[in-house]
Amino acid sequence: MTDVLTPVLSAGWADDRAWTLEAYTERGGYRALGKALAMSPADLIELVKESGLRGRGGAGFPTGMKWSFIPKDNPNPTYLVVNADESEPGTCKDIPLMMASPHTLVEGVIIASRAIGAEQAFIYVRGEVLHVVRRLRAAVREAYEAGHLGTDIGGSGQNLDLVVHAGAGAYICGEETALLDSLEGRRGQPRLRPPFPAVAGLYASPTVINNVESIASVPAIVDHGIAWFGSMGTEKSKGFTLYSLSGHVKRPGQYEAPLGITLRELLELGGGLRDGSELKFWTPGGSSTPILTAEHLDVPLDYEGVGAAGSMLGTKALQVFDQTTSVVRCVLRWTEFYKHESCGKCTPCREGTWWLVQVLRRLDSGEGREGDIELLQELCGNILGRSFCALGDGATSPITSAIQHFREEFEAGMHTPSSELFPPAASTLF
Ligand code: NAI
Ligand code: SF4
Repeated sequence: MTDVLTPVLSAGWADDRAWTLEAYTERGGYRALGKALAMSPADLIELVKESGLRGRGGAGFPTGMKWSFIPKDNPNPTYLVVNADESEPGTCKDIPLMMASPHTLVEGVIIASRAIGAEQAFIYVRGEVLHVVRRLRAAVREAYEAGHLGTDIGGSGQNLDLVVHAGAGAYICGEETALLDSLEGRRGQPRLRPPFPAVAGLYASPTVINNVESIASVPAIVDHGIAWFGSMGTEKSKGFTLYSLSGHVKRPGQYEAPLGITLRELLELGGGLRDGSELKFWTPGGSSTPILTAEHLDVPLDYEGVGAAGSMLGTKALQVFDQTTSVVRCVLRWTEFYKHESCGKCTPCREGTWWLVQVLRRLDSGEGREGDIELLQELCGNILGRSFCALGDGATSPITSAIQHFREEFEAGMHTPSSELFPPAASTLF
């Protein structure tokens, strides 16, 4: 096994007071901030660059490099925005992190803001998770009272205001430019990139947008150093990360482990599959990533390994399905989600996801027509690479990969309903 669990972000989660400033400080919290305030912004960016930290929101873009894109001599304010709009199906890592240890995120925000020269930061969080919004606001209040936020932080001359903003519950607002539109008070729809937010983001000013887990990983890197961080993970995918394990497993939940661990190893940590279950298929990073099968159990869960297996690491949401699950029904559920969440800005995604649902519904009910598989593939081909943002592309991934691995189930949909082949009563999931 690559190494066992590496509880850094999840350290202290078992303590129901872990979220308080007192408990966080007792376990070494805000020590990294002291070190960061003694460093220059340029040195902080260099440290995070050298650490090899890659974005944990799904795309894996190098965090330090993103910070370095902020123009040096811009006359406008620079903003830091934390993307806490976690919505990818199966992904549930940022919400427990913010609930259990919001100060890890707050400390990361202060350090990152110093690095990029921001005096105003926002955490954009899903509005539906009101308990998380409240917890974050309580932590921000504590941080202000302790002098970690506000003016002249720790006597360093550093100023920072932090606002926790609750979104209104649209998946598309997790797309970084739609998030910015929403934060500005407009309907959340993706903007054309380039310009990337680093150049023209919030209020057309330079803006760094990072995922919760990326920012929360920064204090530990500053505190323990890059050699320590690099001692975990693989050469190109360094460090620890949170994997969300769900589905037909004995102990679903968040497992913090090094990048490069395999699903086989994670399943061992999670107590294995449920009794009587055999692995049929799984997603490495939420439903927007192509599904994999039992033959991929030993694929290293890092950006390169999963990519070589024909999928993407994405959000590291490992949804595991056994032999009682209908692939067609599962893919239909996901596609209904994408159709519902499509923002409607571009035709391939708006119309295409609607048609995909129609075809999948008739295959699910055993009323599929000759040529429906080819029709699904053609529709996906007209969405992939022709949509305005990643939502459209992501909607095609489960369909094309499911046809690739389980074509016979789609063929069966031309005469037999999924519910006959896979009686819902036999499955513990659907
Ligand atoms: P992307 O690869 O286009 O961009 C990644 C980041 O790098 C962005 O912040 C972007 O601004 C920055 N970037 C890329 N090229 C740049 C350049 N030349 N100059 C400056 N900055 C640059 O990926 P995208 O579309 O932002 O995100 C897609 C990912 O989001 C998917 O892989 C998916 O896994 C994930 N996702 C996560 C969800 C969640 O709930 N966490 C929900 C849905 C999708
Ligand atoms: Fe909106 Fe879908 Fe187009 Fe993205 S791909 S802009 S979600 S319609």
